[in-house]
Amino acid sequence: MVDMNKAIEKILTCNNGVAFTGSGISAESGISTYRDAGGIWDRYKEGSSGGMLAVLSNHPEEAPEILGGFFEKLLKAKPNPGHLALSDIEGMGYIQSIITQNVDNLHREAGSSVVYELHGNIFRQRCMQCGKKNFQKRDELSKSMGDIIQKLKEHGLQEMGKFFPRCDCGGNMRPDIVSFGEEVQDLIEATKASTSCDFMLIVGTSGVVYPAASLPMRAKNNGAFVIEVNPKESELTSLCDIFIKGSAGEMLPKLVSAIKENRVTN
Ligand code: APR
Repeated sequence: MVDMNKAIEKILTCNNGVAFTGSGISAESGISTYRDAGGIWDRYKEGSSGGMLAVLSNHPEEAPEILGGFFEKLLKAKPNPGHLALSDIEGMGYIQSIITQNVDNLHREAGSSVVYELHGNIFRQRCMQCGKKNFQKRDELSKSMGDIIQKLKEHGLQEMGKFFPRCDCGGNMRPDIVSFGEEVQDLIEATKASTSCDFMLIVGTSGVVYPAASLPMRAKNNGAFVIEVNPKESELTSLCDIFIKGSAGEMLPKLVSAIKENRVTN
């Protein structure tokens, strides 16, 4: 627990931290990660560089089952103790924002208030014509995706563009997530947060996708203390000051209780 104690000691001296998260923090909410064994990019290798669009175009006949499986887990997922712990650490004033690569909305549902979603949010739709965005509740997304998947089964992938709901400008509303090669979202704010933070808590990412994975190095280069929580080492471990081996759902609540025990509340 030496590393955990060192991490607490450091965090207690900070007040401008940032959490940087990947799919690993949602693993204990039942959403499989992308590149671990059994993950979607482990099963469909082209996804790791081409994302879901590459997978669907290479496997059109499996599109309904792939999308169905992906959305089923997303729609059932709830924040786990890892998400809730980050919201607690924010509430105690040690972290000011979360930068996430996840699209599952679980940080917001856990109560985190400043969340930069680099790869978008699956519960948001954006018009491909006028850019208008709207947020769908879980049951609305469940219904609209259920309809799209049913139409996929009947008409096939090539008609998919027509299945999306219409914007009042007449354009198609697509899920507001970032596909490979598209511009990431909230990057300016996330970069500002990374270059001004006094510590960065990296949780559950392999650190292989850019520009997201460049942010921890920016934090490090600007003097931040970098802590990583992951059951195994990642591409970012070498730049971290402390590596806490373990799952988010187990280690982050331990971090929170140790902070609560040691912090001096004035
Ligand atoms: N707690 C913490 N970390 C975990 C847990 C857990 N319970 N389970 C797995 N992990 C770690 C794995 O060890 C791995 O380092 O989470 C990481 C998951 O890595 P990836 O599957 O590559 O996911 P991620 O890093 O989020 O991928 C980044 O790639 O395809 C794109 O858009 C996609 O946002 C995604 C991006």
